[in-house]
Amino acid sequence: MTTEQHITFTDWLHDSSRGHGALPANLIQTLMVTAEACRRIGAAIGQGALAGVLGAAGSENVQGEDQKKLDVIANDILLQLHSDGSHLAGMASEEMDDPFPVPHPGSEGAYLLLFDPLDGSSNIDINAPVGTIFSVLPAPNGCDARDASVFLQPGSAQVAAGYAIYGPSTQFILTLGHGVHAFTLDRYSGELLLTQENLTLPAQTQEFAINMSNQRFWEAPVQSYVADLLAGKTGPRAKDFNMRWVAAMVADVHRLLCRGGVFLYPLDSKMASKGGKLRLMYEANPMAWLVEQAGGEASTGHQRIMDIQPSGLHQRVPVMLGASEEIAELTRLHSA
Ligand code: AHG
Ligand code: MN
Ligand code: MN
Ligand code: MN
Repeated sequence: MTTEQHITFTDWLHDSSRGHGALPANLIQTLMVTAEACRRIGAAIGQGALAGVLGAAGSENVQGEDQKKLDVIANDILLQLHSDGSHLAGMASEEMDDPFPVPHPGSEGAYLLLFDPLDGSSNIDINAPVGTIFSVLPAPNGCDARDASVFLQPGSAQVAAGYAIYGPSTQFILTLGHGVHAFTLDRYSGELLLTQENLTLPAQTQEFAINMSNQRFWEAPVQSYVADLLAGKTGPRAKDFNMRWVAAMVADVHRLLCRGGVFLYPLDSKMASKGGKLRLMYEANPMAWLVEQAGGEASTGHQRIMDIQPSGLHQRVPVMLGASEEIAELTRLHSA
């Protein structure tokens, strides 16, 4: 129906006339396979109870979280589809303790792929939006991808990052460092079609996202920031703020890219020993890059997220991202 009017994801990736030169074939392959994996994950999610994919898997991941069946299914789809090609040296995931090297005799994979196969998995059982987040890093020459340390590159080294959101429609959001672009799955043809280029995140907002139930556990700067937002027009910020929380980072960040806002998962006293809730390598870094590419900012409160030198594959960090005016205010409160 709509296929004639929109460029396909495949054509978009091959179109070097976009002004930034031709993409390396291995990167095109990485992105096409990731998009196809997301299409299949979305199809499994869409079948829901009919396919018997809902509920707990009966296992725990390295984070100590109970895995859902779909966490495991989504992880397996990504591993399986990427295992065949020679484009990757290895993969790492929220659902695997250790990296997964991709064997290919006689050649070397050019990239490392990190992913959160199913983000917001507590939404699965209530038929609410979930997603897949991914980050592509260069593979160091001759690296052994069994070694987690080859993955420990800062977010500023990413060559591609994005997510799929499985909502009323399935969308694939991508940055290669030249803006943020949105593709929508045509469920009739199975094609991903370009529906929006250069998503932008305004510097100002009147909407914030945070899990308010953790309020008593936050540190003082976040306590005072949110108190100011809640004070509304007569408070120090002199405007009213609305609040939203989908409980899937993908959906909350997607809202920011569609209509602005600020998203926080700050450090709290329950998570202090872990460093935060969200994971640097496959949640915070890819989302930080997307937000920056859309004109926003991403910080821990003390430091730009993409400047962090990672110390572990599953490292957690405080996350504050979105409208630059809000991140500036949060940074000011953290340094006060
Ligand atoms: P995941 O499902 O991949 O483990 O990630 C869940 C994360 C993130 O998506 C979301 O922002 C946050 O956890 C929700 O946390 P609360 O349970 O505190 O709402
Ligand atoms: Mn999880
Ligand atoms: Mn997640
Ligand atoms: Mn997950």
